Amino acid sequence: MHHIPFKINIRTSVQVAELIVHLTKPTWRFMNSEIREIWNSRYNTGTYIYGTRPNDFLRRSVKMIPPGEILCLGEGEGRNAVYLARKGYPVTAVDISDIGLAKVKRLAQESNVKIETVWSDLFDYQITPGKWSGIISIFCHVPADLRIDLHRRVTKGLAPGGIFILESYTPEQLKFKTGGPPTQDLLVTLKDLEKELSGLTILHGVERERIVSEGNLHTGMAAVVQIIAKKPATKKTKAKKTTKPKTTAKKTTKKK
Ligand SMILES: C[S@@+](CC[C@H](N)C(=O)[O-])C[C@H]1O[C@@H](n2cnc3c(N)ncnc32)[C@H](O)[C@@H]1O
Repeated sequence: MHHIPFKINIRTSVQVAELIVHLTKPTWRFMNSEIREIWNSRYNTGTYIYGTRPNDFLRRSVKMIPPGEILCLGEGEGRNAVYLARKGYPVTAVDISDIGLAKVKRLAQESNVKIETVWSDLFDYQITPGKWSGIISIFCHVPADLRIDLHRRVTKGLAPGGIFILESYTPEQLKFKTGGPPTQDLLVTLKDLEKELSGLTILHGVERERIVSEGNLHTGMAAVVQIIAKKPATKKTKAKKTTKPKTTAKKTTKKK
């Protein structure tokens, strides 16, 4: 008896799907190496292009972060990571720009703090689930499909009670021209973020206009969205009611 040669089982289908994902990834890698080059050439200068002072919104919100490890996404040249490390938090900084990360190390050394740096594309970076007391995203503008997936990983990555802090430019920023990406696809609204971060409790979520003055590239009145979001603490499991063991012995009452 002959076997049907092209019988496709579920395992084969999964393998084919994995192969397709694998083969399509180099396109991403190519695109992202372009992004790395863009940021490397911006950072390839003796000065800190966003300055060395922390972002204002982060400075005002830092007290919300409980003790523990902090992850800074798209950290750039280190101004926010160094600020957090000086406050005593162990900090990990991730960025696609190796030149940016070399500046993070330099700024940390000059400030007598230690920062763990990870040279990675956020597309690939695995955020360890349940680990982080704080995750920070300051003007970390990435395409919507990556951002949605990243925020899914952020939600998983926070420890119970952990805090996510984000400030980004909104599409309204295109009319101000005082910094940020020149195209709408890299900008984000409060509505987008509320949807993407639905697993967190939003403690502060606003779109507002404010003066952003950070080095040579963020230079004046701007349209931003700000988020402080908390991972719910794990619910305490109710202690099971203990039922008294039934006793078979009968109460004997002494007659007086
Ligand atoms: C506007 S800068 C902000 C830097 C820093 N957060 C700050 O506030 O000073 C955006 C940063 O995101 C990083 N970035 C952009 N796309 C990235 C990606 N796909 N993976 C990792 N980092 C990325 C850039 O290299 C850059 O350092």
